[in-house]
Amino acid sequence: ARVVFSGIQPTGVPHLGNYLGALSNWVKLQNEASEEDKLIFSIVGWHAITLPQKAKELSASRWDMLATLLAIGIDPKRSIVFHQDDNQCHTELAWIFNCITPVGKLRRMTTWKSRLADSRNANSESEIDESMLNAGLLTYPVLQAADILAYRATHVPVGEDQVQHLELSRDIAQHFNRTFVPGKKRFFPPPVPEISTFMSLGVGREQGTELPFEAPSKRILSLRDPSSKMSKSSPDLQSRILLTDSPSQITSKLRSAVTDSIQGVTYDPVNRPGVSNLLTILGACMEKTPSDLAEEYANKSNAELKALVIDAVQELFKDPRTEFERLRDERAYLTEVAKDGAERAKAISQETIRNVRSFVGLY
Ligand code: TYM
Repeated sequence: ARVVFSGIQPTGVPHLGNYLGALSNWVKLQNEASEEDKLIFSIVGWHAITLPQKAKELSASRWDMLATLLAIGIDPKRSIVFHQDDNQCHTELAWIFNCITPVGKLRRMTTWKSRLADSRNANSESEIDESMLNAGLLTYPVLQAADILAYRATHVPVGEDQVQHLELSRDIAQHFNRTFVPGKKRFFPPPVPEISTFMSLGVGREQGTELPFEAPSKRILSLRDPSSKMSKSSPDLQSRILLTDSPSQITSKLRSAVTDSIQGVTYDPVNRPGVSNLLTILGACMEKTPSDLAEEYANKSNAELKALVIDAVQELFKDPRTEFERLRDERAYLTEVAKDGAERAKAISQETIRNVRSFVGLY
């Protein structure tokens, strides 16, 4: 049986990239799951505080994220949905993993390196170095490994940007098994990322090609700067579409999306990242590959392509937005779902921790 685990940070309402890259896949896996499969989805507050957060906003985001997950179709009867910070097993396991993870490995994580780069830019001083960043940012991926392995998860639906973190989780699982588990048994199975791609539509990743260009993954780019991914942390609000955006906000953001002045529609992520991003979005909404769409719409203008994307995204977010607005005020219901989720999560992870403590000698 599969154990599916994934997490999302409660840092504001999810955007189109979160939805197409990860969340829609959570719902799909849930709806395709067999009776024996376990599905566990966590709102990861401890990860969110690795960057400065305002207490009031974080607290509101925590509940809004739960309402969002229910609004997009996560069913609390079928899946375990809970707040990471309601289950201390995560931090306990993270500490034990911290004690077997070399700092050098963490320094090689691209997310750490980009945080370093960000802080350099913000301070515009070249001599700023890692001594200025907090230790939580460095060990962030260790906590992520603990999230996953606390449930001995086998499948982790995430966007492409999380692949390196999953590699580390597999390393930690293996290292722990080798070091502590009698007979080196596979106590922790290696967790495998489940990336949303157009693969299931019959398009294969060509051998030896580099990500992200040839791989038909659903990595969504910024609408203002298609050289970077759509992200919650970009200061430019026009760069991302939120699940709660009104139809007119969706229209204005997509109308002003950066494209190019080349005639006609082609799928060429290297030379036409803006247009290709629109094709990826439309393809994800319509369950067609971006290159098939490009052929179909070869003679359309960029404005006509944008109009199609606007319709598709408005339709995609229509029901979730309405459902979110209804659920976000149902605090008693949300509290109940969170409490029940935390209890079910603990029942699984406490068993893992008991074993881990005994393997390590902490009992
Ligand atoms: P987070 O909260 O940044 O993002 C949630 C999910 O959205 C995906 N994603 C994207 N996919 C496609 N295009 C984009 N532009 C885009 N932006 C974000 C992310 O890949 C992610 O799947 N470290 C994780 C949270 C986490 C986690 C875990 C995930 C903590 N513990 C355990 C899985 C398992 C993160 O920062 O996600």
